[in-house]
Amino acid sequence: MRTKIVAGNWKMNKNLAETGVLLSELKTKFKESSEAKIIVAPTFTNLYYAFEELRDVDIDVAAQNMHQSESGAFTGEISVDMLKSVGVNVVILGHSERRAYFGETDELLEEKVNTALKHDMTVIFCFGEELEDRKSGNHFNVVESQLKNALFKLDNKAWDNIVLAYEPVWAIGTGETASPEQAQEMHAFIRKTIGDAFNTEVSEQVSILYGGSVKPTNAKEIFAKPDVDGGLIGGAALDPESFAAIANSF
Ligand code: G3P
Repeated sequence: MRTKIVAGNWKMNKNLAETGVLLSELKTKFKESSEAKIIVAPTFTNLYYAFEELRDVDIDVAAQNMHQSESGAFTGEISVDMLKSVGVNVVILGHSERRAYFGETDELLEEKVNTALKHDMTVIFCFGEELEDRKSGNHFNVVESQLKNALFKLDNKAWDNIVLAYEPVWAIGTGETASPEQAQEMHAFIRKTIGDAFNTEVSEQVSILYGGSVKPTNAKEIFAKPDVDGGLIGGAALDPESFAAIANSF
């Protein structure tokens, strides 16, 4: 049985005080554990605080990125060991904003994934096509190459620590959500691509999340699709009511 996951990617939002307010509201909303695994991804400066605040509730903390090297002269960067030292065992990698604004390539992301897995992190690996890729009918090829270039040298066991997040770039932050049918079509393609490259045990156990303008009004229909195992939520994760409503949409 695949794990259902709802993860909130807070991006570059919420200072320390605002993080405290949001976390205390989330703690009341998620007193008892929900059907889905709940994850929140505050910014680096608030990770330890979030870890401490969420110790006694069933909400995991994730980082939004990490460096591929173990340590060294990389001013401003954060290593996997630093994340583990503050109780963080989940990391989002490959988000389209990292790819677009910070030039993260599939090859660099392969290195980041390998470093994270070497330290037993769970990786939420993001990928997805641009609008022009979809308009030209090239979206399946784009998604396939993003997966192959970063993940297809992994062994079968490594996939136990991989969560996939399909995020069509044209749906991120735009209010233009993929339809449940579009999400299911791509998720089924992703699952088949992995099954062909590895085996059905791997492809059937990997959780594939959808991200891109998920809201309380559309989550239920999207999450009801057979190959959608939850969501990676941006804007709506910053509002406790919306995030809780999405998490309860299975
Ligand atoms: O990582 C999740 C994020 O990219 C989706 O953002 O605001 O469209 O839910 P949003």
